Amino acid sequence: MQLIDGKVVAASVLEECREEIASLKEKGVTPGLAVVLVGEDPASQVYVGSKVKTCAELGMHSQKIVLPASTTQAELLAVVDQLNRDTSIHGILVQSPPPPQIHEEEIIRAIDPRKDVDGFHPENVAKLVLEDPTGFVPCTPAGSMRLLAAAGIATEGAKCVVLGRSMIVGKPMAMLLLAKNANATVTVAHSRSRDLPALCREADILIAAVGRPEMVKADWVKEGAVVIDVGINRVPDPSKKSGFRLTGDVAFDEVAPKCQAITPVPGGVGPMTIAMLMKNTLQAARQLSGLS
Ligand code: GUN
Repeated sequence: MQLIDGKVVAASVLEECREEIASLKEKGVTPGLAVVLVGEDPASQVYVGSKVKTCAELGMHSQKIVLPASTTQAELLAVVDQLNRDTSIHGILVQSPPPPQIHEEEIIRAIDPRKDVDGFHPENVAKLVLEDPTGFVPCTPAGSMRLLAAAGIATEGAKCVVLGRSMIVGKPMAMLLLAKNANATVTVAHSRSRDLPALCREADILIAAVGRPEMVKADWVKEGAVVIDVGINRVPDPSKKSGFRLTGDVAFDEVAPKCQAITPVPGGVGPMTIAMLMKNTLQAARQLSGLS
């Protein structure tokens, strides 16, 4: 069994970013990312903190905007509008999920698609489907693809099952696997799919992205399969100082022995998401500056 180490692969992506940032700075461009957090969701606070910290480590410009949980739709739209106009900002990300009074779809559509480094704007969704490389690919599925490549896993002709159909992971992941540079056969499974365990057992490559702790059991996985665990779930654990531990969507201990390769949680897909966000921000900086 091969353990796919996301920290190692992410470090090599960040190394590529360092080189590109140096070359952009030589041309007078300092890439800038704005991260907007509305409310106080503890997990979101951690993610947003990591994103800003990574920018700093790479010598990028970043701006963290923390708004109260009571922020109105109009107030958030005004912040997005200001960031759209800010020439020092190339990438804009509004952390999901926002509080319930916020209509996320309208916020996403308000972001300048040229700065939509999450790849959630309809224009970028279309470019993903069209395989147009000027679009932004959502970071988590992009990172998952990169992990497969780094682990030497061939997708050509492989039976892939994507468990989950979210706009953030499941749907874009399916599109990436289906694209002509991957050539996989893709099944997208979800909570209403009939006989999920049997569907998953068909997979040469199983992508678990449902957000349910340890849902994928050993008997859901074919012997010799590759498993990418996208889940980052907090489950109560009184033995931890924080009171919780992180676990994936896959019951790792029982599934891992059956796998050709598997990603751990934490330390698998998580670090890749941030690394790909940096890459997307560099792409935005290049494109907005007419450098690509
Ligand atoms: N919440 C969980 N993943 C993501 C992501 O990739 N982008 C944003 N904006 N919010 C998220």
